[in-house]
Amino acid sequence: MKIIVTKDQKELAVEAWQVMRSVLLQKEDAVLGLATGSTPIGLYDEMVADHLKNGTSYRRVRAVNLDEYVGLSPQNDQSYRYFMKKHLFDRIDIDPESTFIEDGLATDAEAECRRYDAVLSRLPRDIQLLGIGANGHIAFNEPGTPFDLTTHVVDLTQNTIQMNARFFEKESDVPRRAFTMGPKSIMDAKKILLLAVGQNKAQAVAAAVQGPVTPDLPASILQRHPDCILIADEAAASLLKKDL
Ligand code: GLP
Repeated sequence: MKIIVTKDQKELAVEAWQVMRSVLLQKEDAVLGLATGSTPIGLYDEMVADHLKNGTSYRRVRAVNLDEYVGLSPQNDQSYRYFMKKHLFDRIDIDPESTFIEDGLATDAEAECRRYDAVLSRLPRDIQLLGIGANGHIAFNEPGTPFDLTTHVVDLTQNTIQMNARFFEKESDVPRRAFTMGPKSIMDAKKILLLAVGQNKAQAVAAAVQGPVTPDLPASILQRHPDCILIADEAAASLLKKDL
């Protein structure tokens, strides 16, 4: 795994944009695997700023997202579909028809998972962007998730519910279940860009990069990916051992 440590969150966004930019430059019709959470917002701002300033076009780009809360409609301002529109899709020239995310309102969860797996097979990702949970989760793959899972429904852990409560009015509003790409789906991307910001991610980052590869720490599977880049700010990288 290639590791880049940045001074702060702003520098991290600029570095992440360099990686994303190189993918876009190679392929006008790149397939981007995108992520939600506070960590990628700076990168999305960089993409928008470049689009406005340099005219980089997303007309032929396709975007597939990692996960979505069960029970939330695209209009719900806590849904990940809404998040993506607000932070990126509505600010660039991507065709809304070329943006994919699980349907939080799907009544047949199993059918929805298989539908999404088919979308992922049809659109092999050139890059998959990832954040990391404080417990080492990637997308919504919580500790203990078998590595061979594709899209599935998860019961969120109490830790994740508490962490994500900051985006909701109250903790009881946080959905208890979510659709998520599985570890296998994530690993299928050609390139992976993992971003981590802040001291509260330091332990998960160190375990993911330098600990044993185990489903107990879902992000550790990334050690097996042939082209994975971690960009972490100094705080998130603070527990990485330098002499390995
Ligand atoms: C959520 C998302 C993850 C994300 C994580 C970290 O649980 N499902 O994809 O990586 O939060 O979020 P943040 O970037 O806000 O720390």
